Amino acid sequence: TTGRFTYDPGFTSTASCESQITYIDGDEGVLLYRGYPIDQLAENGDFIETCYLLLYGELPTAAQRREFETAITYHTMIHEQMSKFFTGFRRDAHPMAVMVGVAGAMSAFYHDSTDINDPEQREIASRRMIAKMPTIAAMAYKYHVGQPFIYPRNDLDYASNFLHMCFAVPCEDYKVNPVLARAMDRIFILHADHEQNASTSTVRLAGSSGANPFACIAAGIACLWGPAHGGANEAALNMLEEIGTPENIPHFIDRAKDKNDPFRLMGFGHRVYKNYDPRAKIMQKTAHEVLDELGIKDHPLFDVARELEQIALHDEYFVEKRLYPNIDFYSGITLKALGFPTSMFTVLFALARTVGWIAQWKEMVEDPKQKIGRPRQLYTGETERGYVPADKRG
Ligand code: SDX
Repeated sequence: TTGRFTYDPGFTSTASCESQITYIDGDEGVLLYRGYPIDQLAENGDFIETCYLLLYGELPTAAQRREFETAITYHTMIHEQMSKFFTGFRRDAHPMAVMVGVAGAMSAFYHDSTDINDPEQREIASRRMIAKMPTIAAMAYKYHVGQPFIYPRNDLDYASNFLHMCFAVPCEDYKVNPVLARAMDRIFILHADHEQNASTSTVRLAGSSGANPFACIAAGIACLWGPAHGGANEAALNMLEEIGTPENIPHFIDRAKDKNDPFRLMGFGHRVYKNYDPRAKIMQKTAHEVLDELGIKDHPLFDVARELEQIALHDEYFVEKRLYPNIDFYSGITLKALGFPTSMFTVLFALARTVGWIAQWKEMVEDPKQKIGRPRQLYTGETERGYVPADKRG
């Protein structure tokens, strides 16, 4: 009667996809990478092993790990000419904007691995992106702080190499603290993949058209940047700093519950988890370890976070809506303690999630049933109507 289409209630979305990579049970707070619980992988393994598992479906043997790790290590340098892309940005550009630009530029640079129908070129592109993302991320950080780029080193493991590229300076030796490197490595594991989240779905949709894999990763980075998604770690830390002390918490809890107030408790709630995000527990433990290693007792933000968590977990609004801390709630405190500015937090998320994006992209491209993605819509606009000449429009 309002001139709008009625629609077939049998309408079903075609947006879902099949995958064998990651399983989440949101009600039970379960996260499995290729069937292995995230806490067992984070406690017993490392990121290189997790990359192999996500890409190939099995934990590597010693020989498989050696071959894979060597291939990654010996591809960590980016083409020297690519470093010129950074100088096109203002120094105060947000590092995520730089990441989108430089990752996308790789599609122009490494055009020799764009035949995605060639398994060997798919493998080259996959390993190249995983190998070079830490170098690009570290260069984005160095450019942001106005320090010279530090080359990757082949004698350091993945996480140590990244910390070295970020925090070493040419003027003196820099020794990576192994406890902090282990924490960084575990943070990469926690962020590696997460089923069909917004940025992974972006990479899959872009890749389903046959687009260059590096350009697809750039699209995923752009999507991850949003504060409702990967940008939440930066937003969560900014929120904790805004709250400042435990005494201010009730005011912010009231704001989070007020539908007229756009304020949300950043780092709380999830599209899938209606229970505690299993990654958040491991992240809280990692935060403790990093603060202890650095001799930081009674970290004010950590005290606010713990108090906020306790209040929210017992508040009827959050209990009724099943809102729990997610991975972003404690990650900001940990990353800040490791020495990163808040603007780098989502860059670290993108660095780690690159392996998940690549694994999901490979799975999709290698699926013979795969067609170009085409999410359907529910049309609620006007029914057909005749053109009205300008002088008759009232
Ligand atoms: C990530 O998808 C993934 O897997 C993402 C991710 C990954 O690894 O890729 O896990 C990473 O993105 C984690 C989420 C990070 N985002 C944040 O922490 C931002 C703060 N959280 C919210 O903005 C929110 O919780 C979302 C966006 C994450 C989900 O919110 P939705 O889509 O509204 O869904 P919901 O079903 O969780 O919300 C239910 C209700 C709603 O109220 P009603 O409409 O029912 O009245 O709870 C409210 C929401 O308004 N709500 C919140 C809230 N989160 C949800 N109210 C206050 N504070 C919050 N944080």
